[in-house]
Amino acid sequence: MNSKVACLYFLSLILFTTQLFAQTYARNGMVVSANKLSSETGVDILKKGGNAVDAAVATAFSLAVTLPSAGNIGGGGFIVFMTAEGKVTTIDFREKAPLAATNDMYLDDKGRLIDDSNHNSIKAIGVPGTVAGLYKAHRQYGKLPWATLVQPAIDQAKNGFPFNWSLLTAAERFTASGNKYPFMDAYFRNGTGDVLQPDELWKQPQLGTTLELIRDKGQDGFYKGEVAKKIAKWMKANGGIITKKDLRKYKAIERKPITGSYKDYKIYSMPPPSSGGVALIEMMNLMELANHQEIEFNSTTYVHLVAEVMRRAFADRAEHLGDPDFNLHMPLEKLTSKAFAKKRFEAIDMTRASVSDSTKFGQLYDGDSTTHLSVMDKEGNAVSLTYTLEYGYGSKMGSPELGFIFNNEMGDFNPQPGITKTNGQIGTAPNLVAPEKRMLSSMTPTIVSKNGKPYLVIGSPGGRTIINTVFQTVFNVLEYDMRIDKAIEALKIHHQWLPDRIIYEQHLLSPDTRKALEAMGHTLTGYGNLGALMGITYDPEKNVFTGAADSSRPDGGAVGY
Ligand code: DON
Repeated sequence: MNSKVACLYFLSLILFTTQLFAQTYARNGMVVSANKLSSETGVDILKKGGNAVDAAVATAFSLAVTLPSAGNIGGGGFIVFMTAEGKVTTIDFREKAPLAATNDMYLDDKGRLIDDSNHNSIKAIGVPGTVAGLYKAHRQYGKLPWATLVQPAIDQAKNGFPFNWSLLTAAERFTASGNKYPFMDAYFRNGTGDVLQPDELWKQPQLGTTLELIRDKGQDGFYKGEVAKKIAKWMKANGGIITKKDLRKYKAIERKPITGSYKDYKIYSMPPPSSGGVALIEMMNLMELANHQEIEFNSTTYVHLVAEVMRRAFADRAEHLGDPDFNLHMPLEKLTSKAFAKKRFEAIDMTRASVSDSTKFGQLYDGDSTTHLSVMDKEGNAVSLTYTLEYGYGSKMGSPELGFIFNNEMGDFNPQPGITKTNGQIGTAPNLVAPEKRMLSSMTPTIVSKNGKPYLVIGSPGGRTIINTVFQTVFNVLEYDMRIDKAIEALKIHHQWLPDRIIYEQHLLSPDTRKALEAMGHTLTGYGNLGALMGITYDPEKNVFTGAADSSRPDGGAVGY
């Protein structure tokens, strides 16, 4: 390092928590989430001596208060945890189908899907997993007392926090929608019944009381006793099928991560019931086989290659993946092997688009219904946590007595057995509804290690686009050595096998490139934004954490200390 560079570098370190451009630097730990107040909550826990798991748990509870479109206790998700020594595990707290669920529950007597009922009805609610998952993560790997981690969220719910512009957009939408979503209509009003306004303190006393029971009784505070009783009563009164037994039986599960490599880096991600890890590793393996000296980032050849790689991984996802407890013989090793990637790679024609064939056998949205948080502590332990309500504000339903929103995750099951359509609806067997089964997810919380230690922590919301935005961000860092903020903000495309088209971030792909891709046989659709990535990299030589929150989330923040 020459002296000028060194001087600038150290100046930046003096400003430990100062945001320079879109990144934040810190020496002792970092939390990146879609709400800055919640990231600060996580950092406070680190400062109290908590580890990355403690900070992630506290941040996740806080997001259930500050970011109710996606942060939740009524949904589910996944944690990938890597210790500073490089040991990795995952916690699956995906929602599951209630005991009374059946594989034709969304069909009429002619076998037709009843209007979006798998997404838009009380029967779209899966048994929530979040509280069990956070509790399990803390029990096995946390350091500070449980109550210390839940208390900040209780304070934010009971004492209130400043309402923001993003929340106002939702508040205006829901309060204008008449009586369609009564819970949501009442949710965004203050004590006198007016719609909340930016900077007004938003208090959620019922949610605060529910969180107090969770603080005092742990997992049982949600799955047994008063809360469980109220959930079951509300379900019954409104035509839902989740019972006290469903709640009592819910368990978060620790699972081995899906692992892969890219050059000298090791990649750890979420195994089924998420499809994210398998598809990510398959795509990284395929990309490793290309000559990147000759394929420049953002060129026609680059976009073609990336789209073809995605097409293949998403076809394999549709054919093979579902809940591992119901699909005992999924070919996970094969799908993530270098040999399989070689075969897949050889079949890519670099001059022509392939055609996705729905007869042999892939819905897109980028929303605010899922959220990712990344944490690293001063020892170098790392947590990558993505959790979701499925749609923005999930089912848009909840019990007013309890104050939280339920997911509509049942919509992630394949709704119509045997019916795979060119619009992306899938009907393959591994992901059909069955009692107590977990629905296939695309969430891809990921940690990459270098020399055996956590190097990159990353994840995103976005439905099926999650897998692809995480893939491209990981690739940008590992292959192009992009800074984390650049890697997050750089062009993203999305191909998911079906529908057979490339979605591209509108202003990042040039008209010339689009024309050239069309001439190769691709169909292209412009889209405003793909993903909301929250990432951290760690440089062990300089002992510096660098964090960046996607600019698509204006309330997000990378906070370090
Ligand atoms: O688990 C899944 O894959 C979906 N429920 C995630 C939905 C999502 O990310 C929507 N957008 N933010």
